This record gives sequence, C-alpha cells and structure tokens, in this order.
Amino acid sequence: MTIDRNRRAAVGAIAGAAGLSALPLPALAQGRKLKIGLMLPYTGTFAQLGEAITNGFKLYVAESGGKLGGDDVEYVTVDDESAPPKAVENMNRLVRRDNVDVVVGTVHSGVALAMANVARQTNTTLIIPNAGADDITGSLCAPNIFRTSFSNWQPGYGTGKMMADRKIKSAVTLTWKYAAGEESVNGFKEAFTAGGGKIVKEMFLPFPNVEFQPFLTEIAALKPEAVFVFFAGAGAAKFVKDYYAAGLKSIPLYGSGFLTDGIGEAIQDVAQGLTTVLHYGDGINNPKNNAFRTAYALKYKMQPDVYAVQGYDAAQLLAAGLRAVKGDFSKKAEMYKAMEIAKIDSPRGPFTLSKAHNPVQDMYIRQLKGRDNVVVGIAVKALADPAKGCKAA
Ligand code: BEZ
Repeated sequence: MTIDRNRRAAVGAIAGAAGLSALPLPALAQGRKLKIGLMLPYTGTFAQLGEAITNGFKLYVAESGGKLGGDDVEYVTVDDESAPPKAVENMNRLVRRDNVDVVVGTVHSGVALAMANVARQTNTTLIIPNAGADDITGSLCAPNIFRTSFSNWQPGYGTGKMMADRKIKSAVTLTWKYAAGEESVNGFKEAFTAGGGKIVKEMFLPFPNVEFQPFLTEIAALKPEAVFVFFAGAGAAKFVKDYYAAGLKSIPLYGSGFLTDGIGEAIQDVAQGLTTVLHYGDGINNPKNNAFRTAYALKYKMQPDVYAVQGYDAAQLLAAGLRAVKGDFSKKAEMYKAMEIAKIDSPRGPFTLSKAHNPVQDMYIRQLKGRDNVVVGIAVKALADPAKGCKAA
C-alpha cells in the first residue's frame, strides 16, 4: 500500500478505529513518501545552476538509501525559469495543488523573495539552496524558512575586504539590476570603502542581459584600479570572455565567486588567475569534500561546483531535522529546532546556522587555475550576515 504523507494522519485514524493498532509500525511506514517540491531554474541563464543543485540534493538522498527521515522520497519538479512574475503561481502550485511537504528552491533572488512570502503565509517548510536575497534571512526571516547557501551581502563583503586588504584604492562596479546584483555590490562597497577604497562608478544592466560592450568601453575610459562584478551562470561565462576579449587584462577583474563557478569548461583558459571570494573552493582538502567530489563525479560524470554543494547541504539539513522527529513531519517545531542547531558537515567545511537561519561561514579567496577555483586564502572567517530587520529569530 502506498500512503502519501497528507493522508497519513487519516489512515492512522482509520487503522486505529478498525482495531489495527497492533499492526507492526513498519508495515504502515514502508509505503510512506516524503514529497519534496524542487522549484528551480531548468531553462535560461541559471539552468546549469538548477541542475547542479538538483544533482547535489539527490546525491545525498541516494547516499541515504533513497530515504530521508526513514521515508522514501518523491520529487515534484517545477522549472521556475528565473522569472519573478511566475513565482507565486509556481509556488502555490507546489504547496496547494501538489501538497508537497517541503519546498527546496531556488536560485534567483527575486523568485525566492516571492517564494518566501508564500511560505510565510502557508507555513510551508522552505529550504533555499542558493538565492541570496538579504531580506529572506533579514526582514522576512521565519521559523519555517532556512538557507544553506549565503546572503548576497556575504560574498560581496568578503570580496570588498580582500580588495581593501590588497590596498586597491579605486573600483568600478558592474552587475545585473536586481536584488542579487544590488546587494552584492552593497556588501562589496561596505567593506571596500571601510578599508579606504573609493567607488569610481556603479553600473547596472537589466537581468539577464549580456550586452556588455558599452560598459567595457566605459571601464576602459574610466581606468579604475580594479573592477568588481556580480554575474553568474551562462551570463558570467559570457562576461568573462567579453572582458578579456576587450583587452581589459590590465584592469584586474574581481567578483564574488559565482563569476567563475561552474563555468570552467565554457571559458576555457581565458581567465587564468582570476581571483574571487566565495564560501566554497574546488580543491578544499577535507575528507567530506574529497568524498563528495568523488561521489559526484562518479554519479554525474562531471565535476561539482558551489551550487551542487548547496543542494547537497539542503538535503543534509532536512535530514537533520527529520532524524530528530523520526520522520514525523507533524512535529514541525521540534524539527526546526534540530535544524537550527545542526552542525552541517559540508564539503565547504562544517557550518552552523545563524539565528536567522543563514550559514555562518568562511569566505575563501580563490584563484582560477586550470578549470578549478583553488583556495589561496581566507578573506573573512566565520562571517555571519547582519540579518537586518529579522525579528522572528
Ligand atoms: C541570486 O539571484 O540570488 C543569485 C543567482 C545566482 C548566483 C548567486 C545568487
């Protein structure tokens, strides 16, 4: 017999009324399914990021025998297209029509903000495996919303700190005009200007435009000491190639590490030595990362990246919660408590969550060598997001 979770309580009551309470529990438990909604981009500029998160999540579930909290896992997948106008409808479909137990998603900050609002209204368990919108673990923080990735502020701040430490005095910033771009730049500016740096000009283009040429021409004319950017996915690959093709090698390019993560094959050798800051690096030499990279490469015939790590850790966090309540999803308060205090053994290195449910984590300095983002230092240790406006924590 297959029993989905939403019918479980009713089935239990019927079994009790029929005098079946003596049935051994596993007989009932065997058919239970944990329904997970994966709301991620599978098309568009962030498609590869959505795939990597899915792969990472499913790798952990496979390593756990296909189960979480003792239950078989069933997936309901939605391509959110990184389209904020479609986000509420997509999230409602998962929560209200498909009755998923938990939603894992997404990549794009604008989409995630809409998801967080629906999660708050419907008390849905939401685990965010990428999108960095600061408000999600700031003014929108909630007991049922968790993040296994970062806030946009974190890598931006780390990059600004590293550049100020390197005595760079002036920079132009360039990014897509939406929450992730703006908040990354804000984090960058905070640390860079506190360290004595000056912002020459802030430039923006609409998401997901990749017509970079006019901006590159202006950067060449402004001649800053350095450039800071936030781009990710296919757009990042195009930007990096365009930057070096425009002959701007003499103006060092920096960015939060999304600029070079997962795009090694796409950019080939054009950006060797490019330095970025992020909470993961390919060559981190700890037992967890080594095992993770080997297992991922074996299963998917490709190398993992930061997005795969964040997906893997989303599954680890959910597993920690479910373990504490022995798979009983109705004990949400207890489950959230266990998630809050979990120490996640991540390939990035172990991390815990802040009170606002965002990872407290090291910001690594990485350099592109071959296809790998190799860790060469630490910009900031155990960096916690300031969680501005978070009252529920
Ligand atoms: C964001 O929209 O939050 C985001 C997208 C890709 C990489 C990093 C952040």
